Amino acid sequence: MRRTSDGRADRETFLSRYGPWAVVTGGAEGMGAAFAEELAGCGSSLCLVDRQADKLAATAKRLENEYGVSVRTVSGDLSVPDTVEALFRETQALDVGMVVSCAAFGQVGPFLDADESDLLRAVDVNVRVPLRLAHHYGRSLKARGRGGMVLLASDAAYHGSPFCANYAATKSFSLVLGESLWYELRSAGVDVMSFVPGPTNTPGFRRASPKLKEGQRVPGVMLPSEVAAAAIESLGAGPSARPNRRLAAETFFATRVLDRKRAVTRMGDRLSVALRPTDGRNATPRAKDEENR
Ligand SMILES: NC(=O)c1ccc[n+]([C@@H]2O[C@H](COP(=O)([O-])OP(=O)(O)OC[C@H]3O[C@@H](n4cnc5c(N)ncnc54)[C@H](OP(=O)(O)O)[C@@H]3O)[C@@H](O)[C@H]2O)c1
Repeated sequence: MRRTSDGRADRETFLSRYGPWAVVTGGAEGMGAAFAEELAGCGSSLCLVDRQADKLAATAKRLENEYGVSVRTVSGDLSVPDTVEALFRETQALDVGMVVSCAAFGQVGPFLDADESDLLRAVDVNVRVPLRLAHHYGRSLKARGRGGMVLLASDAAYHGSPFCANYAATKSFSLVLGESLWYELRSAGVDVMSFVPGPTNTPGFRRASPKLKEGQRVPGVMLPSEVAAAAIESLGAGPSARPNRRLAAETFFATRVLDRKRAVTRMGDRLSVALRPTDGRNATPRAKDEENR
């Protein structure tokens, strides 16, 4: 996507291909809000979905004021099918040209310690929702002969990821679905892409890194605005993308240099260290010996 001097995607080019309306799930804050702002900056009106009603309303108002676009909201929990139905009703009469599936639910810890209800909630939010969005809006985008769709994945999705097993498995679904639809829909003029952020300073990320402040830059952690801009920049270039070369090189290393046994073990080692209690005992056995075998 061509960029203007302020770094945003060229408005006219963008709107003719991906406008005039965009749907963003998880749009109240974090990466979803950053995608919403990037799209509003390109002139797109928005329909934002989130379960945080107050923050959703505040984000909608701010974007309307700052960018002069229309913003509609659907407030509700996407693990409940009614919320997706409400979104479909809200956008029925709108010319939706872009869909960003961002909201997700994930937990870190030993798989067997998780409640079954939480595991199933992750499947509902991270699998059923992007699936329904891709099917519903995929049909309308194909019919209009142009449009875009971004499904947020995770680097945990590239291979087995111990201690976030269910989250990783659900994110693999988005990764593979988006890549597959890139091929199926490109001849219809629809750009589908799975986008794989690295560590990003969002409220969800800060819950696991409480010392990090909103907007703070630290090495190896991107800002949501940088990630959203990189994703829109990459749209149309291929089936999946990462936000920068360093992360692309990491993906190359984990998927093309390491065999799967080493890639899974490396991930397990990292998270088992991160999950280790501060009193010095291991929360989970390290798999270092296994990696070296
Ligand atoms: N941040 C990272 O480092 C990172 C790295 C790799 C991939 N990702 C992926 O990037 C995407 C965005 O991540 P993020 O860190 O921006 O997320 P986030 O900060 O945890 O959440 C973004 C917004 O989505 C909302 N949301 C979550 N579950 C929802 C549900 N069931 N129904 C309605 N709204 C819901 C959140 O509300 P609540 O706060 O109430 O949950 C929040 O307002 C996700 O798909 C994630 O898997 C993130």
